[in-house]
Amino acid sequence: MERLQKVIASSGVCSRRKAEELIKNGKVKVDGKIVTEMGFKVNHKNVVEVDGIKIEPEEKEYYLLNKPRGVVSTVCDDKGRKTVVDLIETDKRIYPIGRLDYDTTGLLLLTNDGAFANAFMHPKYEIDKVYVAKVKGIVKAKHVIPLQNGVVIDGKKTSKAKVKIRKTDLKTNTSMVEIIIHEGYNHQVKKMFEAVGLEVLKLKRERVAFLTLKGVASGKYRKLNAKELKQLYDVINHKK
Ligand code: URA
Repeated sequence: MERLQKVIASSGVCSRRKAEELIKNGKVKVDGKIVTEMGFKVNHKNVVEVDGIKIEPEEKEYYLLNKPRGVVSTVCDDKGRKTVVDLIETDKRIYPIGRLDYDTTGLLLLTNDGAFANAFMHPKYEIDKVYVAKVKGIVKAKHVIPLQNGVVIDGKKTSKAKVKIRKTDLKTNTSMVEIIIHEGYNHQVKKMFEAVGLEVLKLKRERVAFLTLKGVASGKYRKLNAKELKQLYDVINHKK
């Protein structure tokens, strides 16, 4: 059972706020009867009509984008900057699942499936997010160990992370570090490195669950296929 305004909005007809207005104004019928009650719940068997037109559930779409730098991970930006949604050609109302910073590159999923997006972002499902950070300085065990055990950022301790030094370069005084986390706090990776005294110069997300950027150039995208979706649902259902 879902709230009527949510069902109308997720059919792609209009926003949730507009749906509430339509309900209030007596424009919405459920099984032939006008409903003006805001919390009214319906299931997939109920026939919902808006202005006399039956609504159908919007077809769900799932995209994997290789996000370039200089693009915001929102649907629309109040400063007029390019968004990740601008990079994808679709008439569906898709949005990013979580976010990557303006200057972070790499794998970002987008969808119009709210239930899937919420499940996917929940840390309890322990979905691997694999980042590679270019860090200023030479990273050593004294940095790696606290990162692995969890560090305090914004008053919260992060969960255990898998951390591996991929490369250190004495000439440029930089290191490449792989870090695998399950959570998705704001600027989490940069703040984790900052907590151990290191500055992130570049950040890329290389993998989410089993999905990689293979075959998807920067700024390009592809749809997830049915097999991948099933595998993702298997990951979620397995951890329930
Ligand atoms: N952690 C960050 O600091 N930035 C991102 O974009 C993603 C994870």
